[in-house]
Amino acid sequence: MEAQRAPKILAAYFSQTGNTRGIARYIHQKTGGDLFEIERAAPYLRNEEYDFSGKTIIPFGSHGGYGRSRSAIVELVPRSTIAETLAIRTSVDPSLSDTISGWLRRNDIAEQ
Ligand SMILES: Cc1cc2nc3c(=O)[nH]c(=O)nc-3n(C[C@H](O)[C@H](O)[C@H](O)COP(=O)(O)O)c2cc1C
Repeated sequence: MEAQRAPKILAAYFSQTGNTRGIARYIHQKTGGDLFEIERAAPYLRNEEYDFSGKTIIPFGSHGGYGRSRSAIVELVPRSTIAETLAIRTSVDPSLSDTISGWLRRNDIAEQ
């Protein structure tokens, strides 16, 4: 059987007040790869501009109690694989590092 290559990880995030930035930095520390901040001035990602076909998207974010971002992502990238979402309720998770590690493990992503 052919040995599997480690996947290349892009941790892309948008953060208004810094909560999601903190999560993204943890993920980047644990996985390596690239860290990319999506800025307000940049146009929203649209299907026509970025081709995520065949890619695996592993969503993460922070929220204040509820959200529907996963279904929005599924609609935007119908030809991608959408893996398990990590949703962090702001200030409720005192063991963020362990939570992120467990989520990476369940998604078969090795920590470096
Ligand atoms: C104007 C505003 C609207 C928000 N609306 C929601 C919401 O609809 N659902 C929710 O779960 N959290 C909501 N929140 C809370 C943010 O999602 C939460 O604080 C999040 O952690 C912010 O992440 P960031 O610091 O990375 O931008 C809202 C916060 C603000 C300031």
